[in-house]
Amino acid sequence: MKKVWVDTDPGVDDVVAIAMLFESPDIEIVGLSTVFGNVTVDLTTKNAKIILEAVGKKSIQLARGAYFPLNVRLDTSPFVHGDNGLGNMPLPEPKMKESPFLAPQAIINAILSNPNEITLFPIGPLTNIAMAYLMEPKIADLVKEVVIMGGAVHCPGNITPTAEANFFHDPHAAQTVIGAGWPITLASLDVCGQSSMISNEIMNKVVASGKPLSPYIGGALPFYQAFLSNFGIYDKVDFPDTLAAAYLLEPDIFTIERTHLFIETEGSCLGQSIPVPAGKWYQDSKNKKPYKADETISLVNVLVKENSQQYFDLVERLLT
Ligand code: BDR
Ligand code: CA
Repeated sequence: MKKVWVDTDPGVDDVVAIAMLFESPDIEIVGLSTVFGNVTVDLTTKNAKIILEAVGKKSIQLARGAYFPLNVRLDTSPFVHGDNGLGNMPLPEPKMKESPFLAPQAIINAILSNPNEITLFPIGPLTNIAMAYLMEPKIADLVKEVVIMGGAVHCPGNITPTAEANFFHDPHAAQTVIGAGWPITLASLDVCGQSSMISNEIMNKVVASGKPLSPYIGGALPFYQAFLSNFGIYDKVDFPDTLAAAYLLEPDIFTIERTHLFIETEGSCLGQSIPVPAGKWYQDSKNKKPYKADETISLVNVLVKENSQQYFDLVERLLT
């Protein structure tokens, strides 16, 4: 059983990814934290409560996280996910209580009390995870793995030509997390292209399944589909966060590349994921000594290719 801490900004695809984890017998969600991102943290926290209540897991610790990014202005994506984060569907008023701990402390507590057992699963901006690391860097040695939905390593971005939304929304947090030296796997946009978009046929079955989260997936889907239709996509949907969930559940769906990586924190390419070729020499004008940049830049796993059929089968098996 994999112990997973989910850090999320629900978000239409977040709900589908979380539904997959709850439907899997191999995953134990030990806690869930929220962050601004697709919409404000007030709304993502409300949505997270609705999710936990719908699956009957009010006992799972829900920790509210960051209202703002570390060093850029707050920017959200209601045009993708709706003003309420769930496609503007009518939503109930959730009743469950929040953890007395804010997200960074709750994450630290979970890792310290379960050494080498927790997989962090951030599928929103990385602000909470960066703050947890900055407050207690020991967690970098005590976490099992950090599986992130974020970045665009060998492909264009989705919010700017160079940046993926989660990294763009808090590039400084992304660079802090990428550089922290813990084992990282990135489900980046490299595996979120046309070939991994889920067909309407599968989605219709998901919505009709009667599973606890299917009313929310079905309620939010039309808005998300209308957004995708702006790009000429009518018969399928892209759900980046579910690719990250698929990696947690069946890692052999993916081809992994080991890459030295850093995230741009300034300028017109803010939030870009920059892979650094191994072994190449560089020379800084201020520092006369040549150096190999990759010796000082973190090495991470990047998912670069997926077995689409295996991924679709997994989604269908869990959610229909
Ligand atoms: C990521 O940004 C959000 O819109 C999605 O929920 C996903 O986590 C994709 O770039
Ligand atoms: Ca998300």
